Amino acid sequence: MINSETKLYCLIGNPVSKSLSPEIHNLSFRLNYINARYLVFNVDNDKLKEAINGIKALKIEGFNVTIPFKESIIDYLDELDDNAKMIGAVNCVKSIDGKLIGYNTDSLAFIHTLEENFENFPELKVAVIGAGGAGRAISFSLAKKNVKELLIINRNIDKAKSLSEDINKYYPDIKILYRNLYDSEKIINQYDLVVNCTSVGMYPELDKCPINPILFTENTFVYDIIYKPEVTNLLYKSEKEGLKTKNGLDMLLLQALYSEVIWMNQEYEILGKKEIFKKGFYKNK
Ligand code: ATR
Repeated sequence: MINSETKLYCLIGNPVSKSLSPEIHNLSFRLNYINARYLVFNVDNDKLKEAINGIKALKIEGFNVTIPFKESIIDYLDELDDNAKMIGAVNCVKSIDGKLIGYNTDSLAFIHTLEENFENFPELKVAVIGAGGAGRAISFSLAKKNVKELLIINRNIDKAKSLSEDINKYYPDIKILYRNLYDSEKIINQYDLVVNCTSVGMYPELDKCPINPILFTENTFVYDIIYKPEVTNLLYKSEKEGLKTKNGLDMLLLQALYSEVIWMNQEYEILGKKEIFKKGFYKNK
């Protein structure tokens, strides 16, 4: 029941119309008997400041941030935790005594899913496509896992270069290369894992693909952090090539649950039970 004690949590981004976050959080609140609701707000690209002022004025206690605000939000926050500061991107914010503190639960979630799928990180060569907020979180996570080599691919090569320099400041021993999309095609067959962190292929641009998987080796694991559609064009083409694939649903679920752990200040029993949440998410979508 919604009453005067009901707390509001939300997502700000653009576009957000196909987000699964309300379903995840509202189900989680119900399962945990928390008197709270989660809504999404589509914020115009030039209205981030106004949106944050509104959140502060209404004393909303926590919110998530998605495309295209994961980096630009930092200018409007009072503090960052160490992980978000290192990454330079925020997807989770908590209000503490009126101060907005930024966190990065994308990276916590990504590491969790990596550990479920890989073991020998010092032998793993990884190509990350995208150097925006999500690309930053994932590239730093891979550096933290001490992978053998990191290739950062981005349309805008300057962003790939500055991300690789930022990572090397914290992890000087990691070998990092950076390329634009075109130049990466010649060397992409050297990588064991390819992670798409761009929005290319995301609903509604279903027929787009950031790179042709025909260029990968037969053992490449293809991880697309997009979860809508369930099978992106990249994953469809990769599966046709017989490659192992993974979409972004597990990462979405885990970043959401880690966000709740931060907002509520407590570990949930459901953190290890993400399978409950996966059931039915793609029905009627
Ligand atoms: P997020 O927070 O989800 O990472 P973002 O910071 O807006 O979102 O980053 C989007 C990423 O998708 C960037 O790497 C962007 O490349 P640029 O830095 O060159 O802009 C990439 N991207 C978006 N549209 C693209 C397209 N049509 N082709 C190639 N890359 C694209």
